[in-house]
Amino acid sequence: MALQLGDLAPDFEAETTDGTLRFHEWLASSWGVLFSHPKDFTPVCTTELGEVARLKPEFERRNVKVLGLSVDPLSDHRIWVGDIAETQGHALNFPLAADPDRTIADRYGMIHPNASDTLTVRSVFIIGPDKKVKLTLTYPASTGRNFAEILRVIDSLQLTAKHSVATPVNWENGDDVIIAPSVTDEQAKNRFPRGWKTLKPYLRITPQPDQH
Ligand code: BEZ
Repeated sequence: MALQLGDLAPDFEAETTDGTLRFHEWLASSWGVLFSHPKDFTPVCTTELGEVARLKPEFERRNVKVLGLSVDPLSDHRIWVGDIAETQGHALNFPLAADPDRTIADRYGMIHPNASDTLTVRSVFIIGPDKKVKLTLTYPASTGRNFAEILRVIDSLQLTAKHSVATPVNWENGDDVIIAPSVTDEQAKNRFPRGWKTLKPYLRITPQPDQH
């Protein structure tokens, strides 16, 4: 069965461009993003890896480690990283795992046989410090991902892990948030001292906690 939200992210050992790593040990207490690529030396993947390298400080600021994966061998990765630096203006600054026997791809359900028997789809797994899966995304090979959206989701996941709130449509860090329906008005008085607006009893809007 496909990995679902709340499942433990499978642990694995991988050969990467930064050496061998054991996934859980490497994550330690950080959040993680594991994202797969269909194939080395392909155009969309090249742009995505350059973009993640550009955004690395943004992931670090959020205590998130990023790990890319492509089923091609490490020897190919090592040549491809030169192309990424040359064409994208950002050299790879995070590990890219090789998975030539598709052990990791199979455990994470990254191969969708009705799309392709051999290529991994563009999967994204966001993993919390408890090693549980917090978000999954699946894109086809032909569509590059929006990593600004992935950062936005991480902001929401980290905020909602800490406070009894949810984030509304198109929310961006700093915007107002929704008080979780499980919180009574009485409890909300303590938890949200800056007050809230009640549009409906189930729709209460409050300034984002931790923002001044
Ligand atoms: C790409 O990354 O450009 C790509 C990879 C596999 C199939 C189609 C496009």
